[in-house]
This record gives sequence, C-alpha cells and structure tokens, in this order.
Amino acid sequence: MKIAIIIGTRPEIIKMAPVIDEIIKRDIDFIIIHTGQHYDFEMSNQFFLDLELPEPHYNIGVGSGSHAHQTSNMMKGIEKVLINEKPDLVMVQGDTNAVLAGSITSSKLHIPVGHVEAGLRSFDKSMPEEINRMVADVCTQIYYAPTEKSAINLLLEGINPKHIFITGNTIVDACLRNLKIAEKKSNISHLISDSPKKLLTLTMHRAENVDNPERLSQIIQALQELDDFNIVFSIHPRTLKNLKKHNLYSQIMNKDHIKLIKPLGYLDFLCLLSQSHLIMTDSGGIQEEAITLKVPCLTLRYNTERPETVSAGGNILVGADKDKIVKNAKLISSDMYIHQKMQKVSNPYGDGNSAEKLVDYTLKELNSGNLMLRTPDDIMDSFQTKIKLIKEDIKVSDYEKLNNVLIRIVYDVKGVQFPHPNLNLKNSSILYDDYA
Ligand code: UD1
Ligand code: UDP
Repeated sequence: MKIAIIIGTRPEIIKMAPVIDEIIKRDIDFIIIHTGQHYDFEMSNQFFLDLELPEPHYNIGVGSGSHAHQTSNMMKGIEKVLINEKPDLVMVQGDTNAVLAGSITSSKLHIPVGHVEAGLRSFDKSMPEEINRMVADVCTQIYYAPTEKSAINLLLEGINPKHIFITGNTIVDACLRNLKIAEKKSNISHLISDSPKKLLTLTMHRAENVDNPERLSQIIQALQELDDFNIVFSIHPRTLKNLKKHNLYSQIMNKDHIKLIKPLGYLDFLCLLSQSHLIMTDSGGIQEEAITLKVPCLTLRYNTERPETVSAGGNILVGADKDKIVKNAKLISSDMYIHQKMQKVSNPYGDGNSAEKLVDYTLKELNSGNLMLRTPDDIMDSFQTKIKLIKEDIKVSDYEKLNNVLIRIVYDVKGVQFPHPNLNLKNSSILYDDYA
C-alpha cells in the first residue's frame, strides 16, 4: 500500500506533519510531493527542520503566479509523479491550490483522494479557498472532517456518510506536541522582553484583505491606535509586497509598539502565540491554534469556515473595520472577565489524536476495497432518497440493518444530526436510501 501526500504551503506542511509521523510509525509506504507554491526558506524548509520531517520525494517547483498558472503547472507535475508512482491513495490537506490541483489530477487518474479538513465552508465563493475546498470535496473518496459541523456540510451536499470520518483537526496534534518542544528549544525573548505591555500577535495574508488597499489601510490604522499593546506582526511575503506597494509599511515601521518581523519558524511562532494576551489574524490555522492554546482571537474577516471557534466563544469576527478592531481589542485587554471567558472555551478540534484516528480510518477504507470512485450503492441510492419520521427507540446502525437502508441525514429538534451508528433515532426524521 502506498500513500502520496501532496503539500504546497506553510499550513499544509504543519498540518500534515502529524499524519506523516503516524504513517512512518506504522511503516506504510509513502511519498511526499511538494508543489513548490511556497519556496522561501522561512515559508517552507524551516518547517521541515522544525517538525523533523523527511525531505519531499518530489518538488514540482511551481513558484508564484496566477491561479491558472500555478494550478495547471501543479497538475502537470503531479500527473507525471502519480503515473510513475501509482499510489493507492492521494492525501491532500485544506484549501490551497495544491488541494485543487492534487484532487482533480488524482481523480482523473482514478486514484482515490483523501481530503484532510474536508467539509469546511465559509459560504463565500469569492474566496479562492472556498472554490478549492468545494472542488476537492467533489473529487474525494475519504472525507476527514474535523468537526461534526464540517461533516454535516458534506451531508447537505449529498456526500454518503459512510465515507465521512470525524477526526478533529491535526493542527491540535501539531500544536500540543510542538509546544512542549518549543518551550525548551525556542527563544523569542527579544520580541517580548523589552515591553511591559500586553502582547498582541498579528498575522494577515488573505487575498481579500491584503490585496485590497482600503481594507489593508483600515487594519493598519487600527494597529496605530492600539498603542497599549506590544504588537508583534509576523509579515507574510504577500502582505509585505502589498504594504510597500500602498505606502502603508512606512506608517508602521517606526512605531515603538509595533515590531515588524519576517515569518517565524513553527517552534518560535508557537511560543509567541502561547504567550500572547490576544491574537489578531485572518489565518485559518491560527484561529484553530488560538482556541487550542486558549488565547482570545480577533479574526480580521467577515466570515469564517471555522464557525465553531466563534460559537464556542473564543473568536470574534471583526472584519477589516478599524473601529470594530480597536473597540474589541481594547475591551478584551481591559476587561479581565471577558478575557478569561474567551480563554475558558472547549476546543472543537479535538484533543490531539487526529492523525492517529485519520490513519486508522484510512487503513480501514483502503482495506475495505470499495474506494474506487462511487460505489454501485452510491450510484443507485442517489435517485431513491426518501424521508420518514421514526417514533421508536432505535439506533442508526440497527435501523439500517433491519430495513436495509442507508441513513444519510437525521433531523430532530436540535437541527441536522450526523447519523453516527449509535445515535438514537426516536422522534427524529431521517433522509434515507433504500438498498432494496
Ligand atoms: C496561499 C494559499 C492560502 C493559504 C496561504 C498560506 C492559495 C490560493 N492560497 O496563499 O489559501 O492560506 O498560502 O500561507 O493556494 N511569496 C513569496 N515567497 C513564498 C511564497 C509566496 O514571496 O515562498 C509571495 C509571492 O509574491 C506570491 C505571494 O506571496 O505571489 C502569494 O503567494 P501564493 O502562494 O500565491 O498565495 P498565498 O497568499 O501564500
Ligand atoms: N505560522 C508560523 N510562523 C509564522 C506565522 C504562522 O509558523 O510566522 C504558522 C501558524 O502557527 C499556523 C500556520 O502557520 O500553523 C498558518 O499558516 P497561514 O496563516 O499562512 O495559512 P492558513 O492557515 O490561513 O491557510
């Protein structure tokens, strides 16, 4: 059995690291294909060193460029490798162009795709990431959904629940394991020790913020007003380019309360996050790390595909609105009760054993032998879906066996439920397919 793992950017390296560790631990044959979308030392190699990962077996070296340029060149490069290596499964992670290219190319070669972080939706199709993850989920055979909410998003798009596995998010594994190492190895005292002010860590790189001069300017104005904080701003290369292009870099480069730094390695960055009073970001992964590390987060976006962080109470969406950013940052800093309340939320992304679960599910699915694209059951089911109210006390798995049906979705007074085998169906409505 051989698994091909496709990565291309900083977050994919970090989030696939625990999966790669688990695959190595179980002695499964694998190859790593790096698309080369991120190529600066501090955006790529640094993470292989910090996370002690093996070198990629292939680097397609796609570099920067338009979406079509990147995606098409990745597809050509990935296709060559996959034809040559003939893996049994291709794993992609998240929502970058690597996920788009990897999942389309694999599915056209009839190689099953496993999507780590399947089912996330911001419901904003102007985001390149929303299109990437939706297309990937069309091409996928094994869906590793981090939460119940992401699993339900998939159900509502017609995905067969038997192929959806709720795993938690591998970022928790990466974050918790490496924090211990970081506390021993990392030294970020030069970033924090010279200021008695509360530490605010900032990152942003999302196209809708940094490629839009009005939004970028609003955020930069907010930073200037937040002089009660010691702000450490780790600047993504895309952001640096735009700050300079729009003459915004000069507005913050000489401010005593703002430290502008190059992207940090994972160990240093985890240390920085964990010691922060507040995190401000438009990053997906950092919203998840904030709740894992119990640091309040302000997300510089108007929507999020991580709504669990907001409903849990650890994250507030403040958009790119200067007044809203400043008001919320000051409130969290001045009101200890609010700060503590935002810290004391439970983590919707699991307790750090996602990679183990994910590899268990993978082996089970691969060994089941029914992974090739859609199974005959899937195809037959799709035009026979019916709805029924269940009055009796009966578990999903028992009902399915007894009636020879596949339960796709369960509705009850709480809303939509995932059809877990042990879920009691009493007083629920089911959307189901007849096998008969
Ligand atoms: C990409 C992903 C985004 C993810 C982010 C993680 C897509 C569509 N976007 O965005 O979902 O959240 O990575 O950080 O896949 N650059 C460098 N050096 C590098 C890489 C990039 O200087 O090593 C500069 C280039 O000028 C490039 C720009 O950053 O044009 C943007 O890079 P790109 O990889 O296209 O998108 P990201 O913004 O990094
Ligand atoms: N990160 C890092 N150093 C930095 C900034 C971010 O190691 O200076 C890590 C961060 O801990 C998280 C990941 O990069 O795990 C998030 O990547 P990014 O924000 O680029 O992408 P996104 O998660 O939004 O796709």
